[in-house]
Amino acid sequence: MHSKLLSVILMATMVAGESIYDFKVNDIKGNPVHLNDYKGKALLILNTASQCGHTDAHLKALKRLHEILSYENRFEILAFPCNDFGEQEPWEATEIEEFVKSHHKCEFPLMEKVKITGENANPLWKYIIKTTQVSPTWNFQKYLFDSNGKFVKSWDANTSIESIFDDIKAVVDRVPVKETASDSEEANKIEL
Ligand SMILES: *[C@@H]1O[C@H](CO)[C@@H](O)[C@H](O)[C@H]1NC(C)=O
Repeated sequence: MHSKLLSVILMATMVAGESIYDFKVNDIKGNPVHLNDYKGKALLILNTASQCGHTDAHLKALKRLHEILSYENRFEILAFPCNDFGEQEPWEATEIEEFVKSHHKCEFPLMEKVKITGENANPLWKYIIKTTQVSPTWNFQKYLFDSNGKFVKSWDANTSIESIFDDIKAVVDRVPVKETASDSEEANKIEL
């Protein structure tokens, strides 16, 4: 009886298919990153470019957004440099990293430069575009996922981070707070 129930559940899970947590990408240094590591956090996934009219405003606001919402480990931003739109990300990894991390001082994870359109698009991006049915038309297409990996909403480059702050915060506020090992270590240190 139990094993029958279990196999029904397993089959339902398999039919439900993939989620964003099934994908692996590389970070800007080429180290593998498993999306599964972000399970339990609200995620803002976007394509970035260093030489777009929207670059400065977006990177400044994303930096602030990350500072405000990521402190309880309930939110993360995954930024994917991409040259698909207007060839506005022509740089190599080291230059992109220098620009985003050192110049703009963004602390959210910066991924490897990817293609997000066409046949050779990164598999995670293919999956996101297929399942959300929102195709990016330019740089800085933002996709918000809740802490179960469920797609919430997407906004294009013309939508500022400031104007979607409340939508993002509402999703982050619903993520249960969980104490991590490093948090309790921090707390112990502070107490001592
Ligand atoms: C942003 O707005 C401009 C001006 O209205 C428009 O030409 C452009 O296509 C829009 N960008 C996106 C990504 O929709």
